Amino acid sequence: MEVIIGPNKSDAVQSAARIIAKELRACPRLVLGLATGSTPLLLYRELVAMKLDWSRVKTFNLDEYVGLAPDHPASYHRFMWENLFRQVNINKECVHIPDGRAGDIPAYCALYEESIRAAGGIDLQVLGIGTEGHIGFNEPTSSLASRTRIKTLTQQTRADNAPSFGGQDRVPHHVITMGVGTIMEARQILLLAFGKNKARAVAEAVEGPITAMCPASVLQMHPTAKVVLDEAAASRLKRADYYRWVYDNKPDWQKL
Ligand code: PGA
Repeated sequence: MEVIIGPNKSDAVQSAARIIAKELRACPRLVLGLATGSTPLLLYRELVAMKLDWSRVKTFNLDEYVGLAPDHPASYHRFMWENLFRQVNINKECVHIPDGRAGDIPAYCALYEESIRAAGGIDLQVLGIGTEGHIGFNEPTSSLASRTRIKTLTQQTRADNAPSFGGQDRVPHHVITMGVGTIMEARQILLLAFGKNKARAVAEAVEGPITAMCPASVLQMHPTAKVVLDEAAASRLKRADYYRWVYDNKPDWQKL
């Protein structure tokens, strides 16, 4: 796992944006896995400002709330169109976000997996991390081999996401999420985390044991996972100095 610690959030976001832009320029037909929530907001703003060519890019989002229509103000459909897709030249047919109103959820999830396969798999998956270590909406104790499916949110996640809904009691209990196994098949993974309230989950994910109690810890098994943090999110890492040293002393050909 490569850990990149920026002096602040804006610096860390720029590192992440450079990684994505480099991949996108090298491969105009990139298949991108995308995340929602407060973490990638600034990243999407940065990517928009870079004026990249999205015309041949395919995207797959991690998750969506069950029962929400795409135009619901808190839906991830709405989030993605407002914060990224509407502002770049992406082809609407190339955007995939789980449908929260799917009737037959298991069949729909199998189809979502099939469309990822048909696209050739995900080249680069962007992730956030939950305060209890989830990736996508794979809450603690999710199978590390899980595929796209319905999940029940923890009360902690419902509390964390309450502001988007105007109260925790309005946050849906169920979601459709790519599985941990689905995420692990992405060729590259880029996890972003900012702020002190993510420090514990980050430390468990990067330096703790690999355990379903912290699903993000499975990324230790991924050959090319990168974790981009600000100082606050990195504040509980035991080896932070080492990660900084590695980053500052990269050979030229590895620099961004
Ligand atoms: P956040 O959520 O970006 O809103 O903090 C991250 C996540 O749940 O993965």
